[in-house]
Amino acid sequence: MSDQHVLGIDIGGSGIKGAMVDLTTGEFASDRLRIVTPQPSTPANVALVVKEIVDAFADQVGDSPIGVTIPAVVTHGVTRSAANIDKSWIDAPAEAIFGEALGRDIFVMNDADAAGVAEVIFGAAKGHQGLVIVTTLGTGIGSAIINRNELLPNTEIGHLEIDGKDAETFAAASVREREKLSFDEYVPRLQRYYETVEKLFWPDLFVVGGGVSKHHEKFLPKLKLRTPIIPAELRNRAGIVGAAWLAVERQKHPDPLRAV
Ligand code: BGC
Repeated sequence: MSDQHVLGIDIGGSGIKGAMVDLTTGEFASDRLRIVTPQPSTPANVALVVKEIVDAFADQVGDSPIGVTIPAVVTHGVTRSAANIDKSWIDAPAEAIFGEALGRDIFVMNDADAAGVAEVIFGAAKGHQGLVIVTTLGTGIGSAIINRNELLPNTEIGHLEIDGKDAETFAAASVREREKLSFDEYVPRLQRYYETVEKLFWPDLFVVGGGVSKHHEKFLPKLKLRTPIIPAELRNRAGIVGAAWLAVERQKHPDPLRAV
């Protein structure tokens, strides 16, 4: 075990994935373990799977912190919403639940916040000194706003109301698949979304993640924005890497309002 090797776990609607991360490089320092998300994906059921993953890496984890991402708003250790996971996560004391299941401290954070931080520290926006907005286009739209290396957590701008609609209900990648839209048909929706975001926040850079970003050349060059917009680099590693990174940061700067 090394101080620089930290376990990151990414809870998604279909799979729960974990790997040791080398925080000097942002690379995985172990194989990735994936376990199917239990149904119903209640806090108790998910905690059992998280424990299974932590146990699998027990010899490498030692007493280093552990970071866990979840597709929900997380304030002071409490999950406040639930996207693609069981609704019983709403107002659940997530860090306390995991802490009890594992007998150790766990740091829980929003999935897009973790992915965004990973892109700024190790990925497409590495070393960027300005205002970076990372969006993940997937089942929903996740967001991370990072200004001068500092994360503003839980921004949830995938839910901006645009033309009377919640943005992720017309611009998420899952909507493109469900409605069988070609990329040319999808581009106007992304255009409407990103032009609204840039009008409100004036970012220096957009980074676009989520599975669809592997086809970035089919849609990013067609967007007409004043802000540069580039694909994410860490792709499906971003959540795990960001979870590990933020766990260490959070240990250095504990949350004074954290629920016990
Ligand atoms: C949720 C966010 C989450 C995003 C990506 C949205 O629907 O509200 O909390 O980060 O999906 O999973």
